[in-house]
Amino acid sequence: MPDPPLPPEPRPFLSWPSPTSASSADAQPREAGSCSTALQITRLPPNVSIRAPTKANVPLLKRINSLLLPVSYPENFYREILQNSESEALTRLAFYDEECVGGIRCRLETAAEYQAGLERLDTVDTYGGSRILKAVANHKANGSDGDNYPKRKIYIMTLAVLSPYRSLSIGSHLLDYILSVAAKEPTIDADLAYAHVWVSNDGALEFYRKQGFEVDSGPVVRDYYRRLEPRDARLVSRRIRITEPRSEKN
Ligand SMILES: CC(C)(COP(=O)(O)OP(=O)(O)OC[C@H]1O[C@@H](n2cnc3c(N)ncnc32)[C@H](O)[C@@H]1OP(=O)(O)O)[C@@H](O)C(=O)NCCC(=O)NCCS
Repeated sequence: MPDPPLPPEPRPFLSWPSPTSASSADAQPREAGSCSTALQITRLPPNVSIRAPTKANVPLLKRINSLLLPVSYPENFYREILQNSESEALTRLAFYDEECVGGIRCRLETAAEYQAGLERLDTVDTYGGSRILKAVANHKANGSDGDNYPKRKIYIMTLAVLSPYRSLSIGSHLLDYILSVAAKEPTIDADLAYAHVWVSNDGALEFYRKQGFEVDSGPVVRDYYRRLEPRDARLVSRRIRITEPRSEKN
């Protein structure tokens, strides 16, 4: 498959896309200044829009994921996106003009499902002995434990941006969109987001650090990736809060 065309020089980051377009409405699911799910985020170039999944664009998301991610997802993974409102709400695509250049897909988990995952980590999937068990304990103490932590969790299954379109803050905005939906939509109502990241994917680890995720204290999941060497993943996570006004930098 040919490489995507190089985008023109990024324009100065002056404003969001037009507030009258459907796609820009998608990009701001909350009232301006009402949510602090975002840290400081550079504004999107005006020709970038964050859009909801549709029958027409889900195949574009599939193409991007299969180009960029080490895990191959079955047809069902994409079919499900439009089959229930939760999956639809937790999936977004990024367009540069009319070209799809990135996307995110997340899943909602109950606190019990999340907890069960951590407990499996305790017994089977960790390495590094007490250091990792301590990391899991810290992770729980940080607000991931049963009764003290009854809300649901967002699991980031895929997040990818085509390489010519990186460093335009598209990844940050895709993630921020999902975090704000997670915090504000009563049907989602989640308070933690987490993801597995390949231990050697320094770029993605740095990306998550910049988004306020706990990266270095997260547990390492052994043999998570079958097709990569090393096969291990870092579990990164961050609380989702609504406390301060969102701030954006130019
Ligand atoms: C990770 C990824 C989604 C980031 O997308 P992006 O659109 O380039 O991210 P942004 O432009 O929003 O970057 C936000 C911040 O993260 C930092 N960052 C992003 N990628 C980085 C990299 N490779 N190395 C170092 N820092 C990086 C940026 O510097 C930026 O901070 P700054 O602008 O304040 O300096 C993209 O690199 C990607 O698709 N990678 C391949 C797939 C992947 O690894 N996905 C994550 C697996 S869970």
